[in-house]
Amino acid sequence: MDNNIFLLRASFGSIFYTKPKFLASAPGRVNLIGEHTDYNEGFVLPMAIEKRIYVMARPMYGDLVRLKSVGFQGIEEFQVNSKIVKGERGEGNKTNWADYVKGVSLKIKESGRDMNGFWALYRSDIPIGAGLSSSAALEVSTAIVIAAQFGYTLESEEIVAISHSAENDFVGVKCGVMDQMTCVHAKEGNALFIDCRDSSFEYIPMKLKDETFVVVDTRVKRELGSSVYNDRRKECEAAAKAIAKLRPEVKALRDAKLDDLKEIDGKVDANAIKRARHIITENERVIKAVEHLKGGKFKEFGELMYLSHESLKTDYEVSSPELDLVVDTARGVKGVFGARLTGAGLGGSAIVLVKKESLEDLSGAVVEAFAKKELEEPNVFPVSPSGGVTVEEMEVNE
Ligand code: GLA
Repeated sequence: MDNNIFLLRASFGSIFYTKPKFLASAPGRVNLIGEHTDYNEGFVLPMAIEKRIYVMARPMYGDLVRLKSVGFQGIEEFQVNSKIVKGERGEGNKTNWADYVKGVSLKIKESGRDMNGFWALYRSDIPIGAGLSSSAALEVSTAIVIAAQFGYTLESEEIVAISHSAENDFVGVKCGVMDQMTCVHAKEGNALFIDCRDSSFEYIPMKLKDETFVVVDTRVKRELGSSVYNDRRKECEAAAKAIAKLRPEVKALRDAKLDDLKEIDGKVDANAIKRARHIITENERVIKAVEHLKGGKFKEFGELMYLSHESLKTDYEVSSPELDLVVDTARGVKGVFGARLTGAGLGGSAIVLVKKESLEDLSGAVVEAFAKKELEEPNVFPVSPSGGVTVEEMEVNE
């Protein structure tokens, strides 16, 4: 039995004094390229990673939900048939982890489906706040385990919609659909090339043999993250609106061209123009990157990663000194093809494409660069394209 599952089953018994009946798990993700394009109806190229959130659950009489997460203090509770409200915010005004579960429960209720009380124990090996989408994994694993417990299945599209609206409407982060889609649809050995305008996607087989993607988690979290994220979204919308006044066929920045930016110069905030320039160039990079990946052209793919990072740093302004340090250090290591921040930015992780034989050199160089600046040691680990959400009924002998 997988060690995670063994540990979780044992803990469930010692916390709840009963046995779990369902097991679900969902992966974290890295985005290879296409950052902040999803909510501009553009293109993204993420893949799921091996690190997952696991949840064991058991339906109970009544409407009380009791939740425990390994690594977090205390037990969270709420009642399905009462008004579901957000929990107390943790230290540093952090979102309470149980809010994601509450949000998903509320959205399932609003969809008119039955649900009742249940007890659930979560365990995550996706580092939290690292930009690897632990929140989507939490939402998606929750949606599927609730459905399994109360006797229905949710279509993949519905799991995405429920999870996405839980985060947007209940938790309050106006995120795009990339993370939830990756979590649900991911397939081992593949990245997903998603068109966020209509959520259609194509699996891109990853032909990595002597190369690997590596995550460098800077371990720096920016608590301002969600407000900056929502601000960026507004700036993009302002730019798209200004362009649409001149070209009504522009429905989102996905439809905009660099030439449009000259036309709106002086008509919107200068920052909105910079944000738009990132989105327009980033969408072009994703399309090229997909072709390079299909053709096994890693050098060209890597160049696009560097360009993407530069654009996120100067135009979108969501990098951080630590993320820049990773990218600059990676540039100097032989065998590295490219590096960039991944996810929302402002802390979190970078992703590097490197020859497997140079992995240790990369790791050594990054650790040394951080030590020189007296920063906490970053967490460096290779990742490979993994599968999406799963759920199963457990064998219970009682
Ligand atoms: C977060 C959001 C995604 C996406 C990325 C940035 O991960 O959840 O929807 O916008 O940031 O690309």
